[in-house]
Amino acid sequence: MARTPSSRPRKPNAHPTTDKMQAWENIKKLRAEADALDDPKPNAQTVTGVEFAGDPFVYDFDYNVLDARGSAAPPAWQPHRPDLPEKFEGGKRFELVSDYQPAGDQPAAIEALCAAAQEGDKDQVLLGVTGSGKTFTMAQVINRLQRPALILAHNKTLAAQLYGEFKNFFPNNAVEYFVSYYDYYQPEAYVPRTDTYIEKESNINEQIDRMRHAATRAILERDDVIIISSVSCIYGIGSVESYSSMTFVLKPGDRADPQTVTRDLVALQYKRNDIYFARGNFRLRGDALDIFPAHYEDRAWRILFFGDEVEAIHEFDPLTGKKTADLEAIKVYANSHHTTPRPTLSQAIEKIKAEAKARVEWFEQNGLLIEGQRLKQRTDFDLEMLLATGSCAGIENYSRYLSGRNPGEPPPTMFEYIPDNALVFVDESHVTIPQIGGMFRGDYSRKKTLSDYGFRLPSCMDNRPLRFEEWDAMRPQTISVSATPGPWEMNQTGGVFVEQVIRPTGLIDPPVEIRPVTGQGFTQVDDCIAESRTTIAAGGRVLVTTLTKKMAEDLSEYMHEQGLKVRYMHSDIDTVERIEIIRDLRLGNFDILIGINLLREGLDIPECQLVCILDADKEGFLRSETSLVQTIGRAARNVDGRVILYADSITGSMKRAIDETDRRRAKQVAWNEANDITPQSIRSNIHDILNSPYGKEGVTIGLGADGDATANVKGKGRGRGKAEALPEAGAPGHNFKAALADLEKRMRAAAADLEFEEAARLRDEIKRLERLELGM
Ligand SMILES: Nc1ncnc2c1ncn2[C@@H]1O[C@H](COP(=O)(O)OP(=O)(O)OP(=O)(O)O)[C@@H](O)[C@H]1O
Ligand SMILES: [Mg+2]
Repeated sequence: MARTPSSRPRKPNAHPTTDKMQAWENIKKLRAEADALDDPKPNAQTVTGVEFAGDPFVYDFDYNVLDARGSAAPPAWQPHRPDLPEKFEGGKRFELVSDYQPAGDQPAAIEALCAAAQEGDKDQVLLGVTGSGKTFTMAQVINRLQRPALILAHNKTLAAQLYGEFKNFFPNNAVEYFVSYYDYYQPEAYVPRTDTYIEKESNINEQIDRMRHAATRAILERDDVIIISSVSCIYGIGSVESYSSMTFVLKPGDRADPQTVTRDLVALQYKRNDIYFARGNFRLRGDALDIFPAHYEDRAWRILFFGDEVEAIHEFDPLTGKKTADLEAIKVYANSHHTTPRPTLSQAIEKIKAEAKARVEWFEQNGLLIEGQRLKQRTDFDLEMLLATGSCAGIENYSRYLSGRNPGEPPPTMFEYIPDNALVFVDESHVTIPQIGGMFRGDYSRKKTLSDYGFRLPSCMDNRPLRFEEWDAMRPQTISVSATPGPWEMNQTGGVFVEQVIRPTGLIDPPVEIRPVTGQGFTQVDDCIAESRTTIAAGGRVLVTTLTKKMAEDLSEYMHEQGLKVRYMHSDIDTVERIEIIRDLRLGNFDILIGINLLREGLDIPECQLVCILDADKEGFLRSETSLVQTIGRAARNVDGRVILYADSITGSMKRAIDETDRRRAKQVAWNEANDITPQSIRSNIHDILNSPYGKEGVTIGLGADGDATANVKGKGRGRGKAEALPEAGAPGHNFKAALADLEKRMRAAAADLEFEEAARLRDEIKRLERLELGM
């Protein structure tokens, strides 16, 4: 049964008020006026490490170029909506667990969003002011509607924050994390100018890989699934049809012998390893077959055979060997998202051969002998591997053939895995939506270069992210969430939005003050330092944003010299460290955080009492209305929060940001008076941070004799027994990978010596470090 995306006409009357329509008209008008004031913007600009993709909805793309065989324009494309298999663990309900109840505008927003979703509205916008608890609203909507959800985040720091929050809200449901390796690693690329070929980082991150498997499995097997994903979920993965057909079920009493099951496992890309038992391996000892499923971290399955019958199946701890549960049935999923059934694979191989032959000939005819030679070698090698093992390095580049699609058609993605009734939440939609539009083009030029120089067949270009309109056609009901929604999502709803202006704890928008950049005998820097001191003395934290990296560096150095505890966060700092920096700021290990464009949407820092925006009148991307509103919003989670804009003149963006803040504040104050509410700072989970996987409070374990163990900075590790402190990831001179490898070696040694308690402790530490590395 083919599925078509909901084409029901939207019902603009479902929940708008004329008042809101008017508000949106006003916003549009103001924006248009402001744009006229702004300097003309180049189509694509780079602002201190921020790629700004320009208009995301333009596609300068020609499929005739893409397809070297010169086939005509692709056939009219129909979104592929495969039938999803029946669920193995379906029927479980979402159970939201939280200390607090919906408050402020949340109850009304939840009501409106649920009602419109049930009405079948394809698009909705939740315009919730910064700090109005949009995440909790999303959780409530999921819980109320009892529908699986995909939550899109635009960066890793936010994805990790959301993952932590949703895991807390839904401890008994499947909250999964689906990001691409490319978010962490270098994809395959070729730089012609320097003749450099960069291989895809072959050392795939174990944790990410496992979590991706857990996510795809969960979405096919359960109803209570929430997947937190980066925008890279619009990249291709193996088709649902192959992925779900390459599974098998075993139950006690089944007729099966170890040899058959072993063969099945090999077909699913599991590897036999009787000595080193790790994820994706199996081992056979007598009548016991152990499988370490692709989606598990520290659990494995043991199948006990009696002759050619399955006698029992249980779950055990692979490290200690201890049995943890009896199982009634297991369903084994492939150890790769690109496992393909044999007949499909054979067909694919023929087609790959044909394309390779034609392309090599083309290279030769055009005198590109090196390229032709290179392509022939590489494809022959891949084909041999495919024939022999059913897989090869970079198999995803053959996805056109493996999934049986036409040239130019989009590859299968996560959007083919999620069921029709799923909800998509696009968090911080004003950034995330343009990113979805930008993915395709970035990827296209990289693939095209690889194909032009004979590293890959041209068909590799069909292993790509979805184009914007493909995503648009694929997605189920969508709720865009932002304090400053962008034009696309607002147009989708015809300007209708659900609003959250009243914050749950009665907090009002922070007062915004404008001060001169330079005055008599002082500068914005002097003033900012003086104000920071006052705030710090009162127990608050400070965020400062500058326009350039240089200025941020100089300022942090200067503040440091002035005896202030300050740090600087910029685009070169990796996710793990960013999360640590924010946590350390919250914990009070330092007081002032300086940034350029990272102290913005989503960051939940309730301790922040002062936001200083330097050079606020330099109109441009970093000082646009959206940037200002989002940065100002970081002070909206604390009763004493306030904002200083340093500016010698008032730009259009400033005026709009301040007017909007004033309008909201008036509404919020009136509400508080009418309801007799005293605003209270948000009390967000500083304890959660401490307990979270990336908290520093875990059991810490020494590096061993040759490790340069230094004291844990926080000194709060509840070290047990002989546990020593381990330097944190990112500490200077600390070789993270080597430390992990060493810990793993010691864990295995301990297990081999039957010191299971020690082994388990080491394993927990490895897990903690791996999560830390992922920034979760
Ligand atoms: N009903 C509630 N009662 C108390 N605290 C709440 C409630 N809802 C949310 N919060 C807290 O409010 C804080 C801000 O919530 P959240 O991060 O979801 O804001 P947001 O609307 O997404 O803001 P931003 O636009 O900055 O992303 C969080 O620390 C959250 O725990
Ligand atoms: Mg948010």
